[in-house]
Amino acid sequence: MPNLFTPAAKSADDSSDAQKDRLLAELGQRHHECSEALSELTQAHHDALLRLALTADFRANDTGLHILRIGFLAEALALLLDEPVEFAHLLRRAAPMHDVGKSGVPDAVLKKVGVYNDEERQLMNAHAVIGAQLLGRARTPLFRLAAEVALTHHERWDGGGYPLGLVGAAIPVAGRIVAVVDFFDALTMARPYRPAYSDAVALQMMVAQRGFAFDPLIVDTYLANADVLIAMRERINAQPPSFETLVDDC
Ligand SMILES: [Fe+2]
Ligand SMILES: [Fe+2]
Repeated sequence: MPNLFTPAAKSADDSSDAQKDRLLAELGQRHHECSEALSELTQAHHDALLRLALTADFRANDTGLHILRIGFLAEALALLLDEPVEFAHLLRRAAPMHDVGKSGVPDAVLKKVGVYNDEERQLMNAHAVIGAQLLGRARTPLFRLAAEVALTHHERWDGGGYPLGLVGAAIPVAGRIVAVVDFFDALTMARPYRPAYSDAVALQMMVAQRGFAFDPLIVDTYLANADVLIAMRERINAQPPSFETLVDDC
């Protein structure tokens, strides 16, 4: 019977092992290149959609700072709520795209001053679903979260929101956080048709919606940390971080 462990057999084994190693190394290299290309593609996609969100914000007469503030303040509030750090970081990058669907809303509606009629209200409210559709095309965790935020940031704790009419904890926490941050930030911004509300009045208006529009725990956490969050907003306004801080994967 031939000895399977003869030097000749061993050398055949050696060469097939070396071949396997080479193949594995090649596959590893290709996988590395693919995942690098994928992450570059994801960043480019993120950058493009963030710029689209920024354009929608400019059209609605904002300076673009709202987008930066929403990212950083949503991240801070998530951390204050003891949400996992990775989630909070992801939210910083996802939340600024909450209104990207406004890019699909006509100027006549987006810029209208005064009360919407039913048709205009429908067109405006559609931005949540349009945003979710735009963002939901990419299936990475970042874009899944961004689509979730776009879809749910106008839901209300009492079930009276849109587009799904979700109630309470059925609304994803990311949507609940962004709803509160967005409300306070929008009120304290000057608009072409009204001056900015003071922080004190805006906080009172937020408290009035505790348990109605907003998750009571999130309102309580915002209130308990209002000085820190307002100081953060002031720092962002005084020295806006670069747009890239919302795209960077860190
Ligand atoms: Fe919105
Ligand atoms: Fe907003």
